[in-house]
Amino acid sequence: MEPFEGIISALEDDSIKHDLRRFPRQLKLLLGFLEGDYRTDPKTFFRGLKRAKIQISFVSELIRRYKEGIHFQPERVPFSSLADSVRKTSSLFLLPSARLFFESNLSERNAGREMGVDAFAIRRAVFNLVGNALRATAQAGSVRVTLSLGRNRLKITVSDTGRGMPRKEVEEFYSRGYITAGGRKEFGLANVKEIAKLHKGSVGIKSAEGKGTTVSIEIPVK
Ligand SMILES: Nc1ncnc2c1ncn2[C@@H]1O[C@H](COP(=O)(O)OP(=O)(O)OP(=O)(O)O)[C@@H](O)[C@H]1O
Ligand SMILES: [Mg+2]
Repeated sequence: MEPFEGIISALEDDSIKHDLRRFPRQLKLLLGFLEGDYRTDPKTFFRGLKRAKIQISFVSELIRRYKEGIHFQPERVPFSSLADSVRKTSSLFLLPSARLFFESNLSERNAGREMGVDAFAIRRAVFNLVGNALRATAQAGSVRVTLSLGRNRLKITVSDTGRGMPRKEVEEFYSRGYITAGGRKEFGLANVKEIAKLHKGSVGIKSAEGKGTTVSIEIPVK
């Protein structure tokens, strides 16, 4: 995987670099996983394959946007397709350590309601938040992604029962818009904040050490 890693580090966009960096390792995990005998556990095998397809299309779109210099591209999309792409993104991680749940208030009434959002940017935000949540959560824990469309706003939350964030980190996020580790800016939450801002929305964090974390994105919709 080193050649990939070399190419990724040479990219000029820190936020794309951050998201692409996760993939060589994921791909390695996946290959190891698919080497198993699918006849003994076909269900798990095909689930892995499905995840791989979602991952590959996610990475392809990331690279396409990088190449074309697309940063933000809002379009009118129906709530049903946004809900579907957020659900897909939540299930993109291979062999998640914790249990993962997805919920939305998608109904017959609101399925066709259109909103001006960049659905791929929202997927990137969810991808980052679910990654953080899984990393902070032990085997027995859970991660819950919820998508709820209200009259004027769309709310996405990623909630986990993991180790929680120190108060200092949460404060740092509110004052600077990102978290630093050893003095260096970390890009995950900063990207999520940027994506919310592009949609004229905001990001909130609630966390209790040892109990878990909830990160919410709220976006106004008409
Ligand atoms: N759900 C969470 N639970 C606990 N800690 C979290 C959570 N989300 C973020 N953090 C903390 O905030 C830090 C910064 O996260 P961010 O996503 O901005 O950085 P990153 O560059 O993606 O690094 P990382 O790979 O650690 O996520 C993480 O390293 C972690 O310490
Ligand atoms: Mg992160």
